[in-house]
Amino acid sequence: MKLTIQNVMKTFGEKRAVNDVSLELISGVYGLLGPNGAGKTTLMKLIVDILTPSAGRITLDGVDITELGAAYRDKLGYMPQEIGVYKNFSAKKFLKYIAALKGLSGREAESKVSELLGLVGLKDVANKRLGGFSGGMLRRIGIAQTLLNDPQILILDEPTAGLDPQERIRFRNILSELSGNRIVLISTHIVTDMEFIAGQIILLKDGAVLRMDHTENLIRTVEGKVWSAVLTHEQFNSIKQLYSIGNVMQRSDGMEVRIISDKKPLEQAKPIQPILEDVYTYYFGGTAK
Ligand SMILES: Nc1ncnc2c1ncn2[C@@H]1O[C@H](COP(=O)(O)OP(=O)(O)O)[C@@H](O)[C@H]1O
Ligand SMILES: [Mg+2]
Repeated sequence: MKLTIQNVMKTFGEKRAVNDVSLELISGVYGLLGPNGAGKTTLMKLIVDILTPSAGRITLDGVDITELGAAYRDKLGYMPQEIGVYKNFSAKKFLKYIAALKGLSGREAESKVSELLGLVGLKDVANKRLGGFSGGMLRRIGIAQTLLNDPQILILDEPTAGLDPQERIRFRNILSELSGNRIVLISTHIVTDMEFIAGQIILLKDGAVLRMDHTENLIRTVEGKVWSAVLTHEQFNSIKQLYSIGNVMQRSDGMEVRIISDKKPLEQAKPIQPILEDVYTYYFGGTAK
């Protein structure tokens, strides 16, 4: 299975939300990383055929997705950034309802819904109203919903936004169980989530692909450019204008600051091992989350 995005462009008036993107996706987990407004949601909507490209085309194994139509949608699971649910439905009833819309038979739906409630850890609250669910629980329902038709292509838009740390870990674990033989594309601006689950990272900036590579290769590109130094407030204030700053940690003896710089920024700076977050800071500047 090969999903090919060929010179795809999407404009809204003067705005080029997606600007000449070309990608080839085969099975694996891809992290789509970029700041707000980079074009992640628009690119995903193009891939799931909710939006039509202003130029370029998207093919699955060589056939245009608009030609494939329903055959393509059968292979697709999409979790939008904003998930709409019926608050008065129970978790189970909601999933059964969506299963019916996706064309599963009653018996298929019964077993699939029960299997998925188990996978996302919501079996105990299967009969509770969605209105009382936390953000994390709703996202888990969202992912269960996208999996009902056992999709070969899974597109998840900001699945970890707004989750507490425990829920994020749980979500990551669910996602790593899913990869297998599918194409999984996950967008986020929360970098740390991706380090654990994505085999490859696509960096998107101003609608264009800045880089795409295996996570470890991308991390290698910032080797020797990541420094740590313990600074006073005054020192910090004077260097923060000059360098890209990563994590800042308050310590009893000052501020421990991660600095991204091609050259040693300060006498006391020590070189440290880069992580994916540093890649984000390096390519997008400012403070990564
Ligand atoms: N329907 C639309 N009409 C006009 N501009 C849009 C529309 N959708 C997105 N945009 C613009 O396109 C750019 C990319 O948006 P989006 O794809 O939502 O980015 P991201 O998901 O990375 O935050 C933004 O500047 C946004 O304002
Ligand atoms: Mg978005």
